[in-house]
Amino acid sequence: MQALWPVPIDVQRCPEAADINPVLIRALTAIRAMEPERGPANFYASADDLISRIRLPEFEALLKFIAGAVQNLAKQSNAQAWPPGKLSLDLQFVGCWFQIQNGQAFHDVHSHGNCSWSGVYYLQIDSAEQRCRHTTLGNMNGVTRFYGPYTQFQAGAYMDMGNAYLQNSSLDIQPDEGMLVLFPSYLPHKAMAYEGIKDRIIISFNAQINARSGNQIHPYAGA
Ligand SMILES: [Fe+2]
Repeated sequence: MQALWPVPIDVQRCPEAADINPVLIRALTAIRAMEPERGPANFYASADDLISRIRLPEFEALLKFIAGAVQNLAKQSNAQAWPPGKLSLDLQFVGCWFQIQNGQAFHDVHSHGNCSWSGVYYLQIDSAEQRCRHTTLGNMNGVTRFYGPYTQFQAGAYMDMGNAYLQNSSLDIQPDEGMLVLFPSYLPHKAMAYEGIKDRIIISFNAQINARSGNQIHPYAGA
């Protein structure tokens, strides 16, 4: 038996979050204030040009932490796929943006294009304990839900004991300030409705990893 087609998801915590987050929260809140007409009052999504827009050492430190985590996950995930020998790889952020939500706003199911790895970093959100007190949203308040690759094929949600292993088709990640979640960019996900004392502020990004010698995974093809 082979258990094929893994879906690598990684959760990390930024060790410098206590220093980085307050500075970035102030900077992103100021950017939003300059665009009051962009979106409704309870949901704001910036353009995806944060990399060129923010020049702060705290942002550089966060990007460095994220890049290291993406590189580690990509290396583990591709252990059997990358060709043997030394590879010179360049990680590039091809988009980076932020969102601010509250008042039960949500971001519906979507996936990310033009990249191999994506992620979300939680800058600010109420604690899980506080979020769960919400009378209608409960423990889904502000979580990020990932939909596994079987979800779209389970027509009628057919279930018997033979396919019990397919029934865990989605994963809710309870966010926390300073948490980073990495996932394959094709994976559908949704930011569930959030309502809290603090605004939910996240930074999202898309990344590509390219080999300097060209993206050849079959080095002997055509030889
Ligand atoms: Fe997303």
